[in-house]
Amino acid sequence: MISITNASCVFRHASGREVRALDRISSTIGDGEFVCLLGRSGHGKSTLLRSLAGLNTLTAGEIAVDGRPVKGPGIDRGMVFQEDTVFPWMTVQANVEFGLLAQGIPAAERQGVAREWLDKVGLGRFGDSWPKELSGGMRKRVAIATAFAGGAPILLMDEPFGPLDYVTRRDLQNLLIDLWRSTGRTIIFVTHDIEEALVLAERALVLRAGRIVDDIRVDLTRPRDEEERASPRGIAISKTILGHLELEQHTPGAA
Ligand SMILES: Nc1ncnc2c1ncn2[C@@H]1O[C@H](COP(=O)(O)OP(=O)(O)OP(=O)(O)O)[C@@H](O)[C@H]1O
Ligand SMILES: [Mg+2]
Repeated sequence: MISITNASCVFRHASGREVRALDRISSTIGDGEFVCLLGRSGHGKSTLLRSLAGLNTLTAGEIAVDGRPVKGPGIDRGMVFQEDTVFPWMTVQANVEFGLLAQGIPAAERQGVAREWLDKVGLGRFGDSWPKELSGGMRKRVAIATAFAGGAPILLMDEPFGPLDYVTRRDLQNLLIDLWRSTGRTIIFVTHDIEEALVLAERALVLRAGRIVDDIRVDLTRPRDEEERASPRGIAISKTILGHLELEQHTPGAA
């Protein structure tokens, strides 16, 4: 379980201006949850995710995983970024193996695990390919396989499908849901896209000016097809989130 207690993060810009990116955030996220972090640009989503990953230091408060304070990155937390996180100088197979290499897992086992995950993301035949030989959507599949193969029970994803076209994005959302359901991992996924949150999340945390302003149970049945999203509950959730996002633009950090 992840517990976030009074987490604050103040950045001091070169101009001397202080930005309060996280403002006394408290929440808990249970094992196996799929949580989407939503909010307008600049309202603290990436800062919270990076803090969970241990890539950003809080100025006050604490984040703990199973009671242990997060002090830096760890193998219990995997991360998928918006930009390509695939190493161009390694084959697809070597990319997926990389996280296991760092854990000292022997070569034969590493290869087996990587192959298994490449199969699961539909790239079983591409292990020997180079990332530059793949499409953008396929490279995302490599990043997903790498994150899952690493074995981390918690996966942190920062707008990973942002730059993709609608259909590719939908395929990857479905893939991610299948993998989440079959593995029981905890997934925290940043998006600014309400529809994406309705497709993916069990729970939506809405951030505004560094604070959690709503915590919504996305209690729709799966699959979250168009009909389900257009159900009265689906529309009510969309409207609630949109209401938060549309509130008069608040200058981040000016609170
Ligand atoms: N490393 C940093 N140094 C200084 N300020 C930062 C840093 N990272 C984030 N900030 C500031 O913190 C605030 C929140 O930024 P953050 O990246 O968390 O927003 P976001 O919600 O992820 O936005 P977007 O949707 O545009 O990615 C912004 O005002 C930003 O300028
Ligand atoms: Mg961001």
